[in-house]
Amino acid sequence: MQIQALAAKKAGGILEEYRFDVAPPKVHDCLIKVLACGICHSDLHMIDNDWGFSSYPLVPGHEVIGEVVEIGPQVTHLKAGDRVGVGWQRSSCLQCRDCLRGNENLCDANQGLIVTGPGGFANYLMVDSRFAFPIPKGIDSKVAGPLLCGGITVYAGLRNAGMSSGQEIGIIGIGGLGHMAVQFAKKLGNRVTVFTTSEDKAEFAAQMGADEAIVVKKGEIPPAPSSKLNILLSTVPVALDWVPYLNFLDSDGALSFVGVPDEPLNIPLFPLLMKRRRILASPIGGRALINEMLSVAERFGIEPIVEVFGFDRANEAMQKVRDNQVRYRAVLSAS
Ligand SMILES: NC(=O)c1ccc[n+]([C@@H]2O[C@H](COP(=O)([O-])OP(=O)(O)OC[C@H]3O[C@@H](n4cnc5c(N)ncnc54)[C@H](OP(=O)(O)O)[C@@H]3O)[C@@H](O)[C@H]2O)c1
Ligand SMILES: [Zn+2]
Ligand SMILES: [Zn+2]
Repeated sequence: MQIQALAAKKAGGILEEYRFDVAPPKVHDCLIKVLACGICHSDLHMIDNDWGFSSYPLVPGHEVIGEVVEIGPQVTHLKAGDRVGVGWQRSSCLQCRDCLRGNENLCDANQGLIVTGPGGFANYLMVDSRFAFPIPKGIDSKVAGPLLCGGITVYAGLRNAGMSSGQEIGIIGIGGLGHMAVQFAKKLGNRVTVFTTSEDKAEFAAQMGADEAIVVKKGEIPPAPSSKLNILLSTVPVALDWVPYLNFLDSDGALSFVGVPDEPLNIPLFPLLMKRRRILASPIGGRALINEMLSVAERFGIEPIVEVFGFDRANEAMQKVRDNQVRYRAVLSAS
């Protein structure tokens, strides 16, 4: 069959119509009719070839929600009509130590959906069914997509840093990822401080669940801390002066990176060493954690706040993401 998609045909290019043929589903594959697809900042990094591994035509979209229409002969856990979500990861070896520990996202053979094939800016998506996740009934299709990349990434980034409850958590950058991080941290019983460059986001932060909002204008540094945090999660796509942020961390606190700055980290050792602080970074999350995150989102009422666009307005939506004008996640919807 032929798939109709939107693709960037060169680095930094606008999205244009692009058609390609797909063969029937292989043994573990499923064909999904796309209902909606979130726009993650990683789609922009990939369109722009910021990370040096993009190939063109590049069909973005890795926060895909759709309905299964066809399955391969060995697929037993999904059937036609099921509603599923697909995130950043297309496949892994499923045999190595990382995969067997449930860390398929760390597998040396892991493949990104839009790195090695077309993504969800399309009418259909063919994908390995083992990386398609049933969406809980209580989560609407228009808001579910962003959980599959942004949601799992911040949930894992907070959990990896030791988030439980009763802690002080800081979130830097209140975009697609950050606004979901605020909700996960707050609804799981923590006190949340946000750091944002946007005045309007600081004003809205309380409605999202934040207890405190600190505005730090672009190029400026935050004021000296009045209290200490256990965990700071950075979701910003650029390098900042990290030392003033480290000073917000209590002893044994952790700075957890999920945003991908475009230059190397420049962090002196002493602010870490003297307070036994840690820094860590993590990509998305494994399959078990994705299922856990989806059920936590349903049970605790954690919902991305979305701006919905038709697929015909994809370029406009992309530009809004570039300009940091989206509040808080853009989603393309087929209906
Ligand atoms: N680790 C992973 O597996 C993973 C998964 C998904 C995405 N990511 C990465 O996470 C990052 C964020 O993605 P996203 O989709 O949340 O992006 P986004 O919606 O564009 O949000 C990023 C936010 O960072 C802040 N920001 C942007 N430019 C800034 C600057 N110059 N100085 C200070 N703050 C700035 C803004 O928040 P304020 O307006 O509040 O300041 C902005 O809303 C990207 O680098 C993306 O590639 C990583
Ligand atoms: Zn993403
Ligand atoms: Zn593996």
